[in-house]
Amino acid sequence: MGIIYNQSEDIFHLQAKDSSYIMKVLETGHLAHLYWGRRLRDSNDFSELLNYKQRVLEPYLSKDNKDLSLDILPQEYPAYGRTDFRQPAYQIELENGSRITELKYQDHEIKQGKEKLAGLPATYVESESEAETLKITLVDEVAEIKVVLSYTVYEDFAAITRSAKLINTGQQSLELNRALSASVDFKDNDFNLLQLSGAWSRERHVKRRELEHGIQSIESTRGASSPYQNPFLALERKNSDEQQGEVYGFSLVYSGNFLAQVQVNHFEQTRVNLGINPFDFKWLLEAGESFQTPEVVMVYSSQGLNQMSQTYHKLYRTRLARGKYRDKVRPILINNWEATYFDFDEEKILEIAEAGKELGLELFVLDDGWFGSRDDDTSSLGDWYVDKKKLPNGVKGLGEKINDLGLEFGLWFEPEMVSKDSDLYRQHPDWCIHVPDRSRSESRNQLVLDLSREEVCDKLIEMLSDILDRAPITYVKWDMNRHLTEIGSAGLSAERQSETAHRHILGLYRILEELTTRFPEILFESCASGGGRFDPGMLYYMPQTWTSDDTDAVERLKIQYGTSIVYPLSSMGAHVSAVPNHQTGRVTSLDMRGDVAMFGNFGYELDLTELSATEKEKIKEQVAEYKEVRKLVQQGKFYRLLSPFSGNETAWMLVSEDKSEAYVAYYKVLAEPNAGFYRLQLQGLDPEADYKLVGEEQVYGGDQLMYAGLKLPETFNGMDHTKIEGDFRSYVWKLELLD
Ligand code: DGJ
Repeated sequence: MGIIYNQSEDIFHLQAKDSSYIMKVLETGHLAHLYWGRRLRDSNDFSELLNYKQRVLEPYLSKDNKDLSLDILPQEYPAYGRTDFRQPAYQIELENGSRITELKYQDHEIKQGKEKLAGLPATYVESESEAETLKITLVDEVAEIKVVLSYTVYEDFAAITRSAKLINTGQQSLELNRALSASVDFKDNDFNLLQLSGAWSRERHVKRRELEHGIQSIESTRGASSPYQNPFLALERKNSDEQQGEVYGFSLVYSGNFLAQVQVNHFEQTRVNLGINPFDFKWLLEAGESFQTPEVVMVYSSQGLNQMSQTYHKLYRTRLARGKYRDKVRPILINNWEATYFDFDEEKILEIAEAGKELGLELFVLDDGWFGSRDDDTSSLGDWYVDKKKLPNGVKGLGEKINDLGLEFGLWFEPEMVSKDSDLYRQHPDWCIHVPDRSRSESRNQLVLDLSREEVCDKLIEMLSDILDRAPITYVKWDMNRHLTEIGSAGLSAERQSETAHRHILGLYRILEELTTRFPEILFESCASGGGRFDPGMLYYMPQTWTSDDTDAVERLKIQYGTSIVYPLSSMGAHVSAVPNHQTGRVTSLDMRGDVAMFGNFGYELDLTELSATEKEKIKEQVAEYKEVRKLVQQGKFYRLLSPFSGNETAWMLVSEDKSEAYVAYYKVLAEPNAGFYRLQLQGLDPEADYKLVGEEQVYGGDQLMYAGLKLPETFNGMDHTKIEGDFRSYVWKLELLD
């Protein structure tokens, strides 16, 4: 690992694990991109990687060098207006109305370790030796700006993190119209674009398209990363698959409006840009002020999509997520939402908790409806004090009773919101996001608090701290159930109104930083109508996220599979709920619901007091099994074997770092009449070692299981109709290394 600077050639060679990233300062001062891919030996001759020549219709900056048109030069942080017609990484308007800037190299520094990004979430190091950081300063002397590009390479990860800081070094005020985090130019367009798209209840489905000339992009304008598009994209070589070929991942560590864009030009050159969405964004940069962009985590894999995912998983699990629970196995929980919705009292809650204790569960989570006078979703958000009608002994009293039963106690909040029917709104009607002289659109009967205002953030910190201080709470579910409309702030001047959405996210991050620091013992789980804000920004503050409101086992196969493209299993909440399922009406077996939820942070979300004796026995078995495998689930290497987006079957598996244990699951959604004889090729085992399937006598070679495959069960052979297994089948196997 390391960052090598070749002074005579003015070349930077960044060597992350298994990969190289190379840049060069041209004689003109422009910072050109030379290469990103499989690791190269260092050489003096990287300049030959640059390839540009004069072309018809391409303007040049100087008659002395007509070959140099920025329109065809691969660059690191491209500007607008000086011969490059592609989408720039940034754009600034000067006081004289000019939007034209040009960045030239000034200097650089290389340091061990990685600095924090002020006020923003980012990956980190625990010791200086884990990573090295290069900071390149570019300047525009006319506009009097500096841009500092930061690149960090990790010793143990094929990852490079990037961000940019824009500084106004002059006397005039500047207007940032665009300030993206990173831009990477590829020499060709022989890629498929992979994105994670969806909607409420079907988040992060895997979508692919071939790159074409022009712009292809995904974005959010909703004030949250959203369930519709995730702040991530990958470019996959067309000859790649899960296990082989080159894949480039781009993941933005941000929770608000984003843009992830790919542009292919007339020479099939591909530019990838990521960052805060420039749409409806403007930032006033007064003399001396600076603007820090969020971080992009770029991962290179030469062994397919799965290896890219494994890099993200480990990096995000160990160097993005933080706090006491980062490395701890997570508790198995019971949440009352789908059991009671708003209709509960202390007695009902205690009955469910007691049943949970008998089944071996560890944490009771009280969901929405415990505060203000909230009997439905029309009131009380913002009034974070207990409803004594429902809970006469308060949250504290209930928490203590739950503790007495032998369970930990967790509580739901939706702090970023306010109901019109609330004391908070009556006292502070201007504390929500809004613009003058227009009605305030509602969504789920609520408005969004304006977190760009310091006093609003302070009040939330105070209200939440008060409850968390007083009651025995070890877990918080942090929900967020609407998007931003009429974006504006009563706390900002007219020329700063377009800063509201980003300032709102910065306010949210400040609140989260403060609360997670004040309450280090609490496990925070983020949620946004399920998985509507499942992004790396939130993961920095909260190590787990409620993956989706959709708990249907069949739908979950797609949701969890898609989420695993970037996010580790330790970040995914996965619960067993009742049937018919509340989102799809589908009836699946308790076995399949359990076998799907096992591959995440396990829990239940149903009325445990209504279970039959057989169901209780089954749940006890599931809980016992999860306790056995949870370390492997939460910290093992994840391999996707069969995709629910390609057919009727899904399979995935986990292998421990030392390859001594594995946990395999195979799901078949619809029954297949007269099925053939199928085997499942496993991954990640030690080919030289022997394994036994727990519960069986037979011993298998790791090589045999991977290359010949594991024999799949016969679901129906047509000879005996009483043995038909029907739809929605699942099978799991635990493998142990033989000594
Ligand atoms: C949306 C969440 O995703 C659900 O799990 C639940 O907490 C409800 N909100 C409560 O209003």
